[in-house]
Amino acid sequence: MSPFAHVTGWGMAVPEKILTNDDLARIVDTNDEWIVAMTGIHRRHIAEKGETTASLATKAAVQALAMTELEPHDIDLVIVATSTPEHLFPATACLVQDALGASRAGAFDLSAACSGFIFALNMAAQSIRTGAIRNALVIGSETLSRMINWEDRSTCILFGDGAGAVLVQASERPGGVLGCVMRSDGSGGELLSIPAGGSRYPVTTETLARKMHTIHMNGREVFRFATRVMATATKEAAARSGLRMSDISLIIPHQANLRIIEAAARGLHMPMEKFVVNIGEYGNTSTASIPIAVCEAVRDGRIRPGDNIIMVGFGAGLTWGALALQWVEAARRVTPARRRRRTVLTWLAHVRSFFRRLWRRVEGLLWGGRARPAA
Ligand code: ACO
Repeated sequence: MSPFAHVTGWGMAVPEKILTNDDLARIVDTNDEWIVAMTGIHRRHIAEKGETTASLATKAAVQALAMTELEPHDIDLVIVATSTPEHLFPATACLVQDALGASRAGAFDLSAACSGFIFALNMAAQSIRTGAIRNALVIGSETLSRMINWEDRSTCILFGDGAGAVLVQASERPGGVLGCVMRSDGSGGELLSIPAGGSRYPVTTETLARKMHTIHMNGREVFRFATRVMATATKEAAARSGLRMSDISLIIPHQANLRIIEAAARGLHMPMEKFVVNIGEYGNTSTASIPIAVCEAVRDGRIRPGDNIIMVGFGAGLTWGALALQWVEAARRVTPARRRRRTVLTWLAHVRSFFRRLWRRVEGLLWGGRARPAA
């Protein structure tokens, strides 16, 4: 029998620095009243110097790992879903793999904008269900504040930074990830994009002057698209998982705009109490928004073992999707001893990384780095 894929650990990390709507009103022509009425956002957390997509992802992943009996070398796969990777390559996931000391894990980034966490969780769960792997870390992490045009009031008010992570493990017990729908429509690609910095428009003085390396968005069109797909995707994921809508205890939507979540609730004929909403505190953290909302919902006792939940999101691409999951694990207490052990293991991972770099240099000196033609 193929194993089930259970979420057994979870963690989140957000920067301490907060940017309020009043702070933004000092930067661009906007005000708290407009932002709250149009989006539901009150503040967002912004990465400080030294905080990066990988460092936030690693913090969240360490917490998720600390909730389980697993060691870093037990992890088979690390997927970082992100719209703001540290580099085009290497993958941010590889930086996280190294920082964790997950020495036996494959690692890659997944780019599907704000739907990325759902797509990544589905990919990890399917790999577990085929028996190919047993333990996967799935992370959504962003430093969107570094891709924002701080002169564009229609976008700079929306986004924030943060990370959320879940550990997914194989289990013989039924439950866990039940079903998922993943969709895309590339004809809407220009509605939401960071045009420059890739191979089509490599960075030049012109792309910089035109701020083509920042987020460009047609807000109205994205809004229309989002309100259309959220309810449909949720219903499809439930049906594919053999669930009726009345079986769903909680919906965890991507936190892009409170009005989009309210439209989804109307479309599904469900009360807002069934939706997790934390956009007021974090704004839109793209791939991180759903795992952060999961962590807070578990912490607040809104997700309990046996509950059927649906995660639903949409984003640039255009992409959208929904995933149904039966929550089976009760939250384990992270003891101080376990936390200390994690700190030591993370420190050892740094030491390991340092010696691997050193050894690579020594090898280069001893045997030379030049490729020689075959004799
Ligand atoms: N403060 C004050 N006024 C503003 C602001 C602001 N921050 N931004 C825009 N306005 C003004 C506009 O200039 C316009 O004024 P005008 O009527 O005088 O021309 C007016 O408000 C209305 O502007 P719209 O852009 O039409 O406002 P809209 O109702 O569309 O709301 C918003 C804008 C909140 C951005 C909305 O379109 C939205 O949330 N869209 C979805 C965005 C989204 O979800 N993006 C993330 C996708 S996920 C991912 O992949 C990253």
